[in-house]
Amino acid sequence: MAKTRTVFTCQDCGHHSPRWQGRCSGCGAWNTLVEERSASFSTTSATDQPLVPAVPVTELAADELSAEPTGIDEVDRVLSGGLVPGSVTLLGGEPGIGKSTLLLQIAASVADNGHRVLYLSGEESPEQIRLRAERLGALHPRLWLAPALTIGELAAHLAAVKPDLVLIDSIQTLHDPSLSSAPGSVAQIRECTAAIVAEAKASGVATILVGHVTKDGALAGPRVLEHLVDTVLSFDGDRSHGLRLLQAHKHRFGTTAELGVFEMSDRGLTAVADPSQLFLADRRPGVAGTMVVPTLEGRRPLLVEVQALVQRSNLPTPRRSAQGFDTTRLGLLLAVLSQQCRLPDLPSADVFAMVVGGVRISEPGADLGLVMAVVSSVANAPLPPGLVAVGEVGLAGEVRQVAHCEQRLREAARLGFRKAVVPASYEGSNAGMAIKRVATVPDAIRAGFPEYYPDTDVGTATMATPAELLD
Ligand code: TYD
Ligand code: MG
Repeated sequence: MAKTRTVFTCQDCGHHSPRWQGRCSGCGAWNTLVEERSASFSTTSATDQPLVPAVPVTELAADELSAEPTGIDEVDRVLSGGLVPGSVTLLGGEPGIGKSTLLLQIAASVADNGHRVLYLSGEESPEQIRLRAERLGALHPRLWLAPALTIGELAAHLAAVKPDLVLIDSIQTLHDPSLSSAPGSVAQIRECTAAIVAEAKASGVATILVGHVTKDGALAGPRVLEHLVDTVLSFDGDRSHGLRLLQAHKHRFGTTAELGVFEMSDRGLTAVADPSQLFLADRRPGVAGTMVVPTLEGRRPLLVEVQALVQRSNLPTPRRSAQGFDTTRLGLLLAVLSQQCRLPDLPSADVFAMVVGGVRISEPGADLGLVMAVVSSVANAPLPPGLVAVGEVGLAGEVRQVAHCEQRLREAARLGFRKAVVPASYEGSNAGMAIKRVATVPDAIRAGFPEYYPDTDVGTATMATPAELLD
């Protein structure tokens, strides 16, 4: 057996202390230190391992860490090919987003490829999972189900089934009874994960752990798990829409730049082959306050529609509502707009902005598109059809370069867009589009509304007065 040593661990930040303290010296939280001991599998209990000597990198044999495809293309794309034997993957997402569904579909596909899969659930009974498997067409003799609540049960099932892939739903329901802390606590989650990682490395079984995230997006059991596992995937989307995005935030065996797009239907998750087309399907061109923006999710360019609605407010503090954007970013862009374009009535107007389709934009490339949509709503003038805009907006109203601009333009061109407003410093090809390079927000607005600002010679045109725009 492993030697066990008592340590006190902060339940908030995971800081260790040899003594109990009222206040954690790591994060300063009060009464968060809990006594605990290390968990260990009986099969992987060697602690005093012999020293592995250091060798020159050139003398190491290339490891046969080849990824095994899961058979679900969108998952394999995000995992840079598939699951590596002995790897541990953490799949995080809000409750109800579809983690168990995805897991079961992966299980069925891997079992279909001739592997043994063990699905351990502490959340649903095997009968419930069977029902779902039936609906998803995932009934397969090589897919084994068992309830597992303790690390001991997990080890016993692993020994009995000898799977090639084990799925654990979820890490929060698993606990080690030899630890004094409560199930679901940070100490339990971390120690169980550490034991699972050790077991996976020793046995070469690929493992996927489900972890619920809290409302603010943190994995419950803060970020203490992220450094333990090889891969961290997030599964998210707007629950009122069918769209689900799978992304890697950490991946030891490949890039984190890929994006998997799914749609949740009554037969489970189906791959979305052309997400841009899906996002633009219900678009009504020629309406004021809307703009199409080629954004980047990971490395994948996605065309989305941003919308803005500006109206006079009768509230002392006007409303600022952003869906799919950061509200602070919206406030910042409105401040820039009212300063740079002389729109002093904007601060006292209600502004609603959203990204259509339940997408969340977290990169600055959509700034310019949003700004133009706001102006379009203020002026009640639609932007020209077939126009897209790319660029980050700085506090001084300058339009800045964004990553992979050319790739974004190609995606826009593929979907039939023929004009683009891009940062002045853009040096790539025009991807078959008519391109207008702009250095500032006012330049971009002149380029977007040629009939209002026919004098597109940058620097000479003057903006409409705020009264004109807001009436
Ligand atoms: P689930 O996978 O249980 O979510 P999680 O494990 O992340 O908590 O699925 C959540 C929702 O998905 C559930 O409320 C119903 C819906 N759903 C479908 O729409 N279609 C399906 O085929 C399945 C299995 C679930
Ligand atoms: Mg679930």
